[in-house]
Amino acid sequence: MNEEVKKLADRLIAEHSLTEEGYEQLIRERDEEAAACLAEAAVNVRRRIYGNKVYVRGLIEIGNICKNDCLYCGIRRSNRNCERYRLTGDEIVSCAEEGYRLGFRTFVLQGGELPADTDEILCALVRRLKEAHPDCAVTLSLGERSRESYQKLREAGADRYLLRHETADPEHYKMLHPTEMSFENRMRCLRDLKDLGYQTGCGFMVGSPYQTPAHLAKDLKFIETFRPEMCGIGPFIPHHETPFAKEPAGSVELTCYLLSIIRLMLPNVLLPATTALGTMHQRGRELGILSGANVLMPNLSPVSVRKQYELYDNKICTGEESAQCIRCLESRINAIGYELSMERGDFRKEA
Ligand code: 5AD
Ligand code: FES
Repeated sequence: MNEEVKKLADRLIAEHSLTEEGYEQLIRERDEEAAACLAEAAVNVRRRIYGNKVYVRGLIEIGNICKNDCLYCGIRRSNRNCERYRLTGDEIVSCAEEGYRLGFRTFVLQGGELPADTDEILCALVRRLKEAHPDCAVTLSLGERSRESYQKLREAGADRYLLRHETADPEHYKMLHPTEMSFENRMRCLRDLKDLGYQTGCGFMVGSPYQTPAHLAKDLKFIETFRPEMCGIGPFIPHHETPFAKEPAGSVELTCYLLSIIRLMLPNVLLPATTALGTMHQRGRELGILSGANVLMPNLSPVSVRKQYELYDNKICTGEESAQCIRCLESRINAIGYELSMERGDFRKEA
């Protein structure tokens, strides 16, 4: 690693912060040695706070009907060849039931963006889940909604919300989204979520079309200052029915490098090794954990709909039952010296 990169790495490790230019240089001039150095420091920091525990969250993909048209996403409304579905309340509750029996204590309800008039249905669902399992955390990942809607859902009992910012550069944001979506509204949503007391997750795709190291440096600076409790990053993977079908996928190597940087910036952050990372590399999720990630989000959706929730091509685990995935993950994680934890695994403010 060159001397400048060594200095930046040392500063990041000591101060948990760099200038935006510093982040950019750390990305541009990275090499294997720099990656190994940051990964080692990231793993040490994570071990000090969370030991060798990797938290599991049960992901329930509640529907793929979406009013949005993000250019990268396989369930965008313009995709006529996407077979749409919506799970009923009973189906969602029984997925959570099965998850609970398997030991899950956090459920993530993820789905396409629904119309604004769905507050009552969603609140009733959250209430039902919290009544059935008061010991479980309910996380929502349902896209942009009004502040009032976020507030009602919070009052219904939702604990956490995941909304990736996607890119911290307004111009880049426009290249990834249709004109009716705006960077400003995305940021408004994230501020509202935090303000309403949600444990909040932001994040972005690595290698999304037109992305440069300068954009990534902005993403890192945004994450450093926003201080989310959770942060989801994974490689961009093209979906054949989108305008980005022919774009190259993001790299596992850069994703892992950024995971290490994010761990060093925010030592306590809950950081998943994503399904997209597992899709790009046979051992992608293990590599993510070994770079500083500490969360896995196996799928609890009914196997019958899993192939329909296709944000990108070749998504893994669409044929496996929830119990199979948990066994598979357990042996993978144990093999690299970590333990799965099924606890709620809330954000820890103190080290
Ligand atoms: N490749 C990788 N990730 C994607 N997402 C959406 N489409 C893709 C894709 N083609 C991510 C977005 C979104 C999250 C739910 O999935 O970042 O916020
Ligand atoms: Fe699903 Fe390995 S985690 S099959």
